[in-house]
Amino acid sequence: MKTLIINGSPRKNGDSMTLVNEMIKYINGEVKIIHTYYDNISPCVDCRFCWNNEGCCINDNMQEVYKLLDEVENIIIASPLHFSELTGKLLSFASRLQTYYVRRCIKKDIEFKLKKKNGVLIITGGGDGGPEPAIKRANIIFRHINAKTIGTVFSLQTNEIPSKENNEALRKAKELALELNILSNKS
Ligand SMILES: Cc1cc2nc3c(=O)[nH]c(=O)nc-3n(C[C@H](O)[C@H](O)[C@H](O)COP(=O)(O)O)c2cc1C
Repeated sequence: MKTLIINGSPRKNGDSMTLVNEMIKYINGEVKIIHTYYDNISPCVDCRFCWNNEGCCINDNMQEVYKLLDEVENIIIASPLHFSELTGKLLSFASRLQTYYVRRCIKKDIEFKLKKKNGVLIITGGGDGGPEPAIKRANIIFRHINAKTIGTVFSLQTNEIPSKENNEALRKAKELALELNILSNKS
């Protein structure tokens, strides 16, 4: 079983990564983490290369991610809320999925779909401003990459209770990790 984790937080040991690491403790198989703030993934610049060619012409680490997105059984997206949204770097990462949209909707390759996968969303927040915009955007990302969400881990009061002390969030992270293992054994 292969799992790709997209970390939208700039804090490699912060609240979102605490919950990611809790999942990693229990997930079987290979795990690859992409840190969107540090792993050299540029935003889409709407050059429209993908309108007439396969894939994306920006030569950065997203090329490896494109391969993984068609290989993995699971995807985990983790983000703190920044102004109730996924972080800017995560949205910038998401813009590179435009090549999939173009293939289906501009080039009319309606049969095109990435490998089916299970998805988990992790959202953390200090306590001000609700998570709805971030959840909506994450669902768009999951749709673009053919992922079915099996659940979400929330830790939304981190100013008062950091994720590492949020037993309910830690419990949910473990539960969803075990669920991914079960679902992979069934398929
Ligand atoms: C620029 C910025 C904007 C933020 N906006 C929100 C917000 O809208 N709602 C919220 O609950 N927390 C907000 N926060 C707080 C973070 O989401 C919170 O501290 C989170 O636990 C950080 O997670 P991390 O350690 O994984 O980065 C914001 C933080 C920053 C730096």
